[in-house]
Amino acid sequence: MCGYISAISLQVWLTLMLLSRLQGKVLAPPHLQAMAELPFMLACNITMETGEVLKQVLWLDMANKTILHYQPDKNDHVTKVDGVELSQQTTGQQAHTSVITIRRAAPANEGCYQCLFDVYPTGQQRGRTCLSLTAMVEMMDNKTVVSGKPLTLSCKYVLSKRVRQVLWKKTAEQGDTATVASYVKNDRPIIETPFKGRITLNPSLGQTKLSIHQAQTEDEGCYTCEFHTYPDGIKSETACLSVYVLPKPEASYVTVSEDIVEANCSAVSRPAAEISWNVEGHNQTMGPAVTSFYQLGDGTTMVVSSIQMQAELLDDELVKCEVRHQGLESAIYVSLNKYRNFHVIPISASCVALVLLICLCICLKRC
Ligand SMILES: *[C@@H]1O[C@H](CO)[C@@H](O)[C@H](O)[C@H]1NC(C)=O
Ligand SMILES: *[C@@H]1O[C@H](CO)[C@@H](O)[C@H](O)[C@H]1NC(C)=O
Ligand SMILES: *[C@@H]1O[C@H](CO)[C@@H](O)[C@H](O)[C@H]1NC(C)=O
Ligand SMILES: *[C@@H]1O[C@H](CO)[C@@H](O)[C@H](O)[C@H]1NC(C)=O
Ligand SMILES: *[C@@H]1O[C@H](CO)[C@@H](O)[C@H](O)[C@H]1NC(C)=O
Repeated sequence: MCGYISAISLQVWLTLMLLSRLQGKVLAPPHLQAMAELPFMLACNITMETGEVLKQVLWLDMANKTILHYQPDKNDHVTKVDGVELSQQTTGQQAHTSVITIRRAAPANEGCYQCLFDVYPTGQQRGRTCLSLTAMVEMMDNKTVVSGKPLTLSCKYVLSKRVRQVLWKKTAEQGDTATVASYVKNDRPIIETPFKGRITLNPSLGQTKLSIHQAQTEDEGCYTCEFHTYPDGIKSETACLSVYVLPKPEASYVTVSEDIVEANCSAVSRPAAEISWNVEGHNQTMGPAVTSFYQLGDGTTMVVSSIQMQAELLDDELVKCEVRHQGLESAIYVSLNKYRNFHVIPISASCVALVLLICLCICLKRC
């Protein structure tokens, strides 16, 4: 095993030696893949023999234009074009390492870069690295939408020139996948039959947007955007959509026996709402609230919370149910003793008005 490994190491070492000889003592990785829109680094090493002196280092781009050069013995003097930086230059015993950073990898940056080392008295030595770009699909995060509201799902692939086709697919909760829409260059976006009239797709190969005009509960599921690219193949990303139906809770009560009332609070929503009572645990209630769930055909759930209490509690306390839902910023409160709450204010307001009117009359008579 050990012998095998050392044989391989020897082979690797010999290959490296040969490679460096062939490349004239300059070491540079032949290929480099960079992520589009991000910075990337290029590095070259040179080893020299005793008596050799490094006079100048130059970096050339794919059009053989000088993008950066410096003289290692004159430290601070680096000449460069915009967007290129010298990140590292280390001079060792008869060796020099040069690393440059290009600020943003764009499709125009693809090609072969060269590093040139002017060595005295031997002459120029070069290394070459060929850059290719790759990119990732950028998809928005999972989304929630309130039923009836519009929403847009968007997805981006920065190397849009390589995209031949964009495809949107939907995977429902049951696991079946269907194509929703597609777009091919110079053609009109195609919307599949079940989605026609409700969904639109913008004609773009780079930044694709699938718009749902009025979200419905059946729009819930996971959406995948697929970019069919050449030569990178299919690139895709998925985000899931939840459709909420907000509750509009109601509360009422009936008298079940002489001084006992049963109060109900109900809310239809998606997903199910949480209901509680402010009087739960009160000594005038007949035990805890009982909650029932009913699945309705349209994907919503009706939640009913029932609580029995002594009728006089309605006179003593403001009894209300609290309804909480993920789609609501704060809870909704529905009070049971409606008459006490809503009619007291108008009555007292009219009383005040009446008193004022009488005062005015008296005042007018006196004056
Ligand atoms: C150059 O040498 C340095 C250390 O001397 C090493 O870390 C680096 O990987 C080398 N780079 C190349 C391209 O060979
Ligand atoms: C750049 O220089 C290299 C080596 O000198 C040469 O092979 C290549 O054709 C040149 N490329 C351009 C675009 O001039
Ligand atoms: C998005 O939703 C799916 C399904 O509900 C889940 O598996 C995934 O982890 C979610 N992703 C994020 C980033 O929350
Ligand atoms: C309260 O809800 C329960 C269960 O859904 C039902 O049986 C009862 O009739 C309802 N009572 C009132 C007062 O609505
Ligand atoms: C219920 O609690 C109140 C105080 O919170 C107390 O004054 C009252 O006596 C209690 N009633 C019963 C029946 O225990």
